[in-house]
Amino acid sequence: MSNKLIIFDTTLRDGEQSPGASMTKDEKVRIAKVLEKMQVDVIEAGFAIASVGDFEAIQAVANVVQDSVICSLSRALDKDIDRAGEALKGANASRIHTFIATSDIHMKMKLQMTPNQVVKQAVRAVKRAKQYTDDVEFSPEDAGRSDEDFLCRIIEATIKAGATTINIPDTVGYNIPHQFGAIIKSLIERVPNSDKAVFSAHCHNDLGLAVANSLSAVLNGARQIECTINGLGERAGNTSLEELVMAVRTRQDIFDCDTDINISHILSVSRLVSSVTGFIVQPNKAIVGANAFAHEAGIHQDGVLKHRKTYEIMRAEDVGWNANQLVLGKHSGRNAFKARLAELGVEFDNEESLNNTFRRFKELADKKHEIFDEDLQALVSATQTEIYESIKLVSLKVCTQTGEENTATVVLSINNKEQTATANTSGAVDATFSAIDSLADIKINLQLYSVSNVTQGTDALGEVNVRLEYNGRIVNGQGVDTDIITASAKAYVHGLNKALAATNKAHPQI
Ligand code: KIV
Ligand code: ZN
Repeated sequence: MSNKLIIFDTTLRDGEQSPGASMTKDEKVRIAKVLEKMQVDVIEAGFAIASVGDFEAIQAVANVVQDSVICSLSRALDKDIDRAGEALKGANASRIHTFIATSDIHMKMKLQMTPNQVVKQAVRAVKRAKQYTDDVEFSPEDAGRSDEDFLCRIIEATIKAGATTINIPDTVGYNIPHQFGAIIKSLIERVPNSDKAVFSAHCHNDLGLAVANSLSAVLNGARQIECTINGLGERAGNTSLEELVMAVRTRQDIFDCDTDINISHILSVSRLVSSVTGFIVQPNKAIVGANAFAHEAGIHQDGVLKHRKTYEIMRAEDVGWNANQLVLGKHSGRNAFKARLAELGVEFDNEESLNNTFRRFKELADKKHEIFDEDLQALVSATQTEIYESIKLVSLKVCTQTGEENTATVVLSINNKEQTATANTSGAVDATFSAIDSLADIKINLQLYSVSNVTQGTDALGEVNVRLEYNGRIVNGQGVDTDIITASAKAYVHGLNKALAATNKAHPQI
């Protein structure tokens, strides 16, 4: 058995299936470049047939990433596979990941197909995918609730048809670690040609067990794990890459394999995904949460000072903490700025984009003297998304006085035409959103509003996240500014633009 554990990152596909987490092509490319830098083996960049946007994002990722295999998901349908093959044409190394459901409930109720028909369709799909690439992955969807004899049958047939990776999904997050591990072990033992494929696990976190189930799979012979940054994904999410990788790396006394992941990028990619999607990382999240390495209790602090290992099983700096020293200030030049961002995985497609971001950096440096990596990341996310927006915030004036109504006057540029509106309500943010609503003239339902600080101190950038519902679709908007009312207005406008741009996108599993 190989001692290399393959990391298959599906942040850009399963992660994007979280309501409100949709990403633009440019955002996907930015994340993919950092995943490549971190030495992720396989990047699932999307579901090519879902929409033109998904197709183009996969194409763009395939064209820029050299060192990771680029993968597209496809149902076991000819048209899906052809679309995936087309999107992956420019990739240095490509994979098609095809799947069909195998549990009784899915076959009967969803597919309305017999088990024989399902096997036939799976085999046909793998053979068709082989016409585009040698690297073909097959997933029996809802394997965690499928009949084991049937799983053996379909896996043997798809390996015979050319599948080189067999992925076992716990699609609904139903399995328990010892049981999921036993399924993997038994499949590897029982399928006669199992040695011709790598076995993989793809776990969902509905019972909070995605990482535990994935680790159990590894202990029982799986040599690929499908995971996402920050555990982003459908419903309660997927296996979190950072937790899985660090568990295997930290407990080398237990695992007889390891990943190639360069763990020093973990924190910066976590922050990038969080700022792009607006999914905030909870403070007590393992590895990447703000408190993950913070020792509050006096007795712990005392122990750590005497000997770090008394209370620490990993080194914070190994995963990127404390690397956020003061990096740039108001006298820093364009080259230093560009170089620091390149280290954070951010490259600019054109001079205009670099110049815009540099101008924003100078404005920020005037207000805030110490600029940290987190500030730079927030600035880049905000500037890059604004470039393509049809509604832009031109200016905002807010008057607040205790005991009085608040007045917000907003100037928006809508399709390059400036318009002004004023609203009075009891709250400054509420008045700002009301004024924007009256200009944008679309029926939006605000579902969530949250404010957090990007770094420490009262001059820190405030980051506002909003979740908006428009015509049954959910989008997230983010805005950053040293002033939180302005950050709120930016977040709301960002969300409105996303809502207006949202196109219908097919869900792979419906
Ligand atoms: O959860 C799941 O079953 C999936 C498959 C498409 C692999 O995401
Ligand atoms: Zn999934």
